[in-house]
Amino acid sequence: MRIDIITLFPDIALAPLSESIIQRARQNGLVDIHAHPLRDWATGKHRKTDEYLCGGGQGMLLMPGPLFAAVEDLKRDDTRVILMTPQGAPFQQSDAQRLSTSTHLMILCGHYEGVDHRVIDALVDEEISIGDYVLTNGAIAAAVITDAIVRLIPGALGDARSPVDESFTNPNMLEAPAYTKPNEFRGMHVPEVLLSGDHGKIEAWKKDQALKRTQKNRPDLLDR
Ligand code: ADE
Repeated sequence: MRIDIITLFPDIALAPLSESIIQRARQNGLVDIHAHPLRDWATGKHRKTDEYLCGGGQGMLLMPGPLFAAVEDLKRDDTRVILMTPQGAPFQQSDAQRLSTSTHLMILCGHYEGVDHRVIDALVDEEISIGDYVLTNGAIAAAVITDAIVRLIPGALGDARSPVDESFTNPNMLEAPAYTKPNEFRGMHVPEVLLSGDHGKIEAWKKDQALKRTQKNRPDLLDR
């Protein structure tokens, strides 16, 4: 898979993708990630990328010219073009799974008030939001979805089993609480059942605890 991130802040996008599991996936050739400064496609003396809104309104928008030039330069037949924006569809684990089988993703990062809408109409296959809050720029959001996508590429996680059990693989239930050694820490004990060796009992306990945790933290999941 190849991922091209187009942003005013390539370093912000790349920093979280240059350590640990994602860095190893890159070194092992599972994914080829590039972050490009949008300014590379800007023209004129000042290489301007943003402008005031037509019709008035607060803030600035990314102009269409540099984004069209970037996409036209990097797009291939198999490219899926994504725009990071708080106006996008909320990103879910199922989207990470779907996109992890892509061969080329181009991720456009909004800044200021977003992008000229002609970019969305003409270039973008899907608009994605990582949550109902506004970040200073889409590069942070691009790093988030890239991480979630790349870790699902077969071989990216050392233990091939690990993506299976986790929360959101069953999208309607969170994971049960988990414990490690020591069995007693500052007077707090690992639940007895987990030390019992009775796998039937352990599974039943995990199911019950997962339900309780979901009721407490994400009751919306149980209504789906
Ligand atoms: N850009 C700014 N905020 C964002 C969000 N919540 N999701 C995606 N892109 C963004």
